[in-house]
Amino acid sequence: MNTKPTIDELFEQRITYPDFDARDRLARLVGLDEKIGSLSKILGLLVNSNGLVNWANKYHSGADQIVNMILRRPPLVVLAGDVGSGKSELAETIGDAVAHQEDIEITLLPLSLSSRGQGRVGEMTQLVSSAFEYTVAEAEKLKSTSGPARGGVILLVDEADALAQSREAAQMHHEDRAGVNAFIRGIDRIANGHLPAAVIMCTNRVNALDPAIKRRAAEILTFSRPDENQRNAVLNGPLIQLGFQQEHVKHFVKATGPNGQRKYGFTFSDLTQRLIPAIVLDAYPNNAISPKRALEVTNQIIPTSPFNEEVA
Ligand SMILES: Nc1ncnc2c1ncn2[C@@H]1O[C@H](COP(=O)(O)OP(=O)(O)O)[C@@H](O)[C@H]1O
Ligand SMILES: [Mg+2]
Repeated sequence: MNTKPTIDELFEQRITYPDFDARDRLARLVGLDEKIGSLSKILGLLVNSNGLVNWANKYHSGADQIVNMILRRPPLVVLAGDVGSGKSELAETIGDAVAHQEDIEITLLPLSLSSRGQGRVGEMTQLVSSAFEYTVAEAEKLKSTSGPARGGVILLVDEADALAQSREAAQMHHEDRAGVNAFIRGIDRIANGHLPAAVIMCTNRVNALDPAIKRRAAEILTFSRPDENQRNAVLNGPLIQLGFQQEHVKHFVKATGPNGQRKYGFTFSDLTQRLIPAIVLDAYPNNAISPKRALEVTNQIIPTSPFNEEVA
């Protein structure tokens, strides 16, 4: 028998927005402006449908069919794509943009499946079911029968690779399927209850996404590695502060891109969490960082290889 996890066991630290730290982190993300824009609109509508009704009344009075079509979309957004490309960072900070946009308080309930649900049989299913139960209960408190919701809840199911896996994949075992089913039931429950809640699912395996989950996603946003401009946007600030010239920065942007030996360049997190620290630690504590030596260090770093999508 499984005992039902408590809210503290279930979720990592919950965050309420507006939140200054989140706002700061969101602003530091490079190359995601379009995704930030569309995600905050989608989430805004899911947690506060009144906005769309007001908009329709103003611009398209009587267009209730349009309004219903949009509002009936399932409350799920999938963030998919390469590792270290900002999925978790965006999911954990977008609540601030939504809170400002809708002028309501948003609560994030972050569930990470990576380190959990790999033990006892039934654990994954229990985790997912409980997560939705808490989300529904929180959202019910915020629902308002007239006027805008008093607040909104975002359930974040991060590292959802095991869940995202296709039910059609032959190797998927019964327990995993039960987890997927629990997830789908949860989505449907929020939708049918017209609750001010939305679910963000992050996965590295877009191609293996379960068709039933794909069908329910109001949107699937796909993330990728930084291109040359985006690598420049990440590296330029820190390197210029070290006293490097613009010319030097160009070498680093080039060295971290695809080349003859490999088809892929550095991920965002390779740049921020591996490259910059490696350059610093190489010089610390007795030397200053020189462009020449830093470039040598850069050339020794092998970028994270792309997530191997199973070939169906
Ligand atoms: N678009 C981005 N702009 C700037 N930094 C980024 C971006 N994406 C990722 N990073 C850096 O990489 C780290 C890991 O990103 P994360 O969101 O955890 O990746 P994942 O897509 O695997 O969830 C972030 O904390 C940040 O430092
Ligand atoms: Mg992540």
